[in-house]
Amino acid sequence: MKDLLKTPATWLKTLALGSLVLLTACERPPMDTVQHGYRGTGMVQVYNPRTLEGVIEANVVPEAQPPASADGPKAGDVYQNVKVLGDLSVGEFTRLMVSMTAWVSPEKGCNYCHNAGNFADDSLYTKIVARKMVQMTQTINSKWQNHVGQAGVTCFTCHRGQPVPKFVWFTADSQPQGSNFIGDKAGQNTPAPSVKLTSLPYDPFTSYLLGNEPIRVAGTTALPAGNTSSIQRTEKTYALMTHMAGSLGVNCTFCHNTHSFGAWDGAPPQRATAYHGIRMTREVNNDFLVPLTDTFPTERKGELGDVAKLNCATCHQGAYKPLFGQSMLKDHPELATLRAAFAKAPAVVEPVATPAAAQ
Ligand code: HEC
Ligand code: HEC
Ligand code: HEC
Ligand code: HEC
Repeated sequence: MKDLLKTPATWLKTLALGSLVLLTACERPPMDTVQHGYRGTGMVQVYNPRTLEGVIEANVVPEAQPPASADGPKAGDVYQNVKVLGDLSVGEFTRLMVSMTAWVSPEKGCNYCHNAGNFADDSLYTKIVARKMVQMTQTINSKWQNHVGQAGVTCFTCHRGQPVPKFVWFTADSQPQGSNFIGDKAGQNTPAPSVKLTSLPYDPFTSYLLGNEPIRVAGTTALPAGNTSSIQRTEKTYALMTHMAGSLGVNCTFCHNTHSFGAWDGAPPQRATAYHGIRMTREVNNDFLVPLTDTFPTERKGELGDVAKLNCATCHQGAYKPLFGQSMLKDHPELATLRAAFAKAPAVVEPVATPAAAQ
């Protein structure tokens, strides 16, 4: 006590140092603000121009390969083991292979997915995964236009020149080792990057982007009687929302009019886009990633043995629209729709020379 009250000068020094430590977690002003709703609703987006610069750099699109002719023989006729892209011309097929290499494995090249001795061979798991990814990309672009619009996605949207996208998630162990020594942490109270270092539950993904648990928690009646949502569920909803806002680099008012988080009227149209985005992400995880569980090697899986999955950050990577809305799909119409199964042209039957004719 005596030490603490020594002199007002030391007191002030401690205070100043203390606040310095506290403030290092904050961002330095000035900030930019942009109005995003009706006047007087306080619906503004706050941007830090300095962090935004980095995000802009990370969202530059590579130049597309020159277009290939749709004429000429089909890949399905020429190659031996083409199951999803058979109806492309050989030129279009090769162009896509070159682009896929640039988007996913620029360092290892074709051999990241191919056995160099035999391109038809399916022995590398990466090729099996890539074939499924082609169908996944086509499904997102054709079935989920209520989220991805005409801009759509390509492999680059998620991969950005890396075999493993920068942002993926695994189901978290909700009771990590040591958790019970200081009390059961119940999957929260750990400053995790998934929830922007808050104490919120750090794995809202398993419940909402894989499972189908209800996200809405606000009561719809005046009295609490009709509302059964617990504090825990509410915290998990806030954890998901924190992830969503962080992944898009926006504030809550990008999608909500904060007079009521639950109300749809008065909320910006982006909220409806986000609603479909939640359903799209959930369905893609269940229909495409989970079925690949046995295909992936152990070192690619999470601590509980599950595959890497998508969340909002996988595509958005800090931008309100991935790649700030620039479309790469327009240069790759072959990824816009699921291709019909390709039937090989019937083989021309050569007349068999009979012994008699040969005489
Ligand atoms: C990211 C993985 C990946 C990369 C990288 C890749 N490919 Fe492929 N490749 C595939 C998949 C998947 C198929 C099968 C497509 C299908 O089933 O429709 C395939 C099929 C092929 C085939 C047909 C083989 C046959 O006879 O069935 C050729 C030829 C080919 N690729 C060439 C290339 C070349 C050349 C490169 C490098 C410029 C390359 N690929 C890079 C995934 C890849
Ligand atoms: C919506 C996001 C998304 C899109 C679009 C996407 N991928 Fe993926 N991809 C993933 C995720 C998530 C994984 C799992 C990460 C891992 O391998 O651990 C993955 C894994 C892969 C792998 C395995 C890499 C490894 O080393 O384990 C290959 C190969 C691949 N993708 C190819 C493609 C190709 C080719 C396309 C485009 C036709 C594509 N992906 C489109 C999200 C995406
Ligand atoms: C990208 C758009 C988006 C952002 C950003 C966003 N939300 Fe949401 N929010 C939604 C959508 C969509 C729903 C409804 C989800 C559903 O029903 O599937 C929702 C639901 C909610 C709910 C539940 C409302 C109810 O009816 O019970 C709360 C609370 C909420 N958000 C709070 C927040 C907070 C706090 C933030 C900022 C940290 C935030 N949201 C950021 C889109 C967004
Ligand atoms: C497969 C990639 C992908 C995933 C995963 C994804 N998005 Fe998107 N999102 C897009 C694309 C592409 C657009 C741009 C659509 C356009 O330009 O019309 C977009 C647009 C949006 C917009 C509209 C922005 C605006 O200003 O109009 C919101 C909001 C949004 N996404 C929220 C989310 C949320 C929340 C999640 C996670 C639950 C999510 N997205 C997951 C690809 C994705």
